[in-house]
Amino acid sequence: MPPHRVIRFMKVLLIGSGGRENALAWKIRQSSLCSELFCLPGNPGTSAWAHNVNLSALDFKAVGDFVLENGIDLVVVGPEDPLVKGMRDYFQADPNLAHILFVGPSSKGAMLEGSKDFAKQFMLRHAIPTAAYRSFTKETLSEGQAFLESLTAPYVLKADGLAAGKGVLILNNLEEAKQELANMMEGKFGAAGNTVVIEEFLKGIELSVFVLTDGKDYLMLPSAKDYKRVGEGDTGLNTGGMGSVSPVPFADELFMKRVEELIVKPTISGLQSDGIDYKGFIFIGLMNCNGNPYVIEYNVRMGDPETESVMTRIESDLLAHLEAAAKGTIASQKIVIAPYTALTVICVSGGYPESYPKGLPISGVEPLCYKAAPESVKVFHSGTKMLCQEQQETLVTAGGRVLAVTVNGPSIESCRERAYKEIEKIKFEGIYFRRDIGCDLL
Ligand code: AMP
Ligand code: GLY
Repeated sequence: MPPHRVIRFMKVLLIGSGGRENALAWKIRQSSLCSELFCLPGNPGTSAWAHNVNLSALDFKAVGDFVLENGIDLVVVGPEDPLVKGMRDYFQADPNLAHILFVGPSSKGAMLEGSKDFAKQFMLRHAIPTAAYRSFTKETLSEGQAFLESLTAPYVLKADGLAAGKGVLILNNLEEAKQELANMMEGKFGAAGNTVVIEEFLKGIELSVFVLTDGKDYLMLPSAKDYKRVGEGDTGLNTGGMGSVSPVPFADELFMKRVEELIVKPTISGLQSDGIDYKGFIFIGLMNCNGNPYVIEYNVRMGDPETESVMTRIESDLLAHLEAAAKGTIASQKIVIAPYTALTVICVSGGYPESYPKGLPISGVEPLCYKAAPESVKVFHSGTKMLCQEQQETLVTAGGRVLAVTVNGPSIESCRERAYKEIEKIKFEGIYFRRDIGCDLL
């Protein structure tokens, strides 16, 4: 690989189109190292900070051509899908693209998220605390059902592959669990369920931990709590995430030290000893079981809606950190994290996470309502679209999660008060949001 050029200002390409990318775009654009930012494909929110590029992130040739034609220095990948499908490998294999700085792991590294079985074997091999498990396929279905009989409820079944966050079932009834195991192998989640991981149920409180690594060293980003269930009091169906809070009171210094020693360090050294060159984010979903952390899952990207909260608490230059991660010099970086709280409430379409309408007009969003921290309010766009009709632009809904309202303040209480006041201004038909984000942490 040719030596990296010495860069003073960078042209950056951010891949993705959600609230996470909106928050990343906002943060990257603050950097004095950023000369120009592109977001592919982006959304109406990212267009405040970046030039949106109307291409598919999975069309690697088109992305590569865009990078060369526009003199991009650094690529940052937001979602997992292009990584699991080998975007980094594509860049590395092309002599014209191999020198481009790239934040995101190879497809091998991305298997930490792309295959639950791979991730469990990795954790076992490197003695990283996680729930006990066994994997089964259609051929071993009856062994899987017998294994379920040997466990006590609740039963945790996980489709091995990517299933858009829906591939995990937690069931209280043994017969139902045995039936669902068969259903998964019969294609309930498509090919993702050809292999199913059955694991021990962990009782505790969840935490999302974020690491940026160059494969040798790492920075710990702020951690956050995500609210996954659609209903207040953590009830109802699982969603992509209905809100987030950072910092998380129970993730104190002692607990985070344990996370670093027992999980983060063995993960990085495990990647190294397995010969996986990992440059990018690692999102560790973990369970705090009486003060002891256990890994629930790895993701090879930032979380959404955690990123919306997390980015507003990073005071140091994220782009400098990203550049160092891509170059292998992250040991030279120091992250500065603000002491104040960040809280994000997601406004979703009525019906989400099941079917919901799209194309409904949105009012009350002031895109540049980005006042200075720590008293700031930001409205990040997730599923929105700008509709142009008869020379008039209307912002409309275009997804389940529509907008993320992120507030910074001195406490969870003050952030909650401000966030819900801001949300009152936002209107679209069927708007729904949880009113209890952060309540469990008070
Ligand atoms: P995952 O996609 O692996 O993150 O699982 C989705 C959700 O299921 C997690 O965020 C947890 O709330 C829950 N979950 C997954 N694995 C377990 C487990 N072993 N014990 C308890 N809850 C779990
Ligand atoms: N908020 C959880 C996730 O991004 O997967």
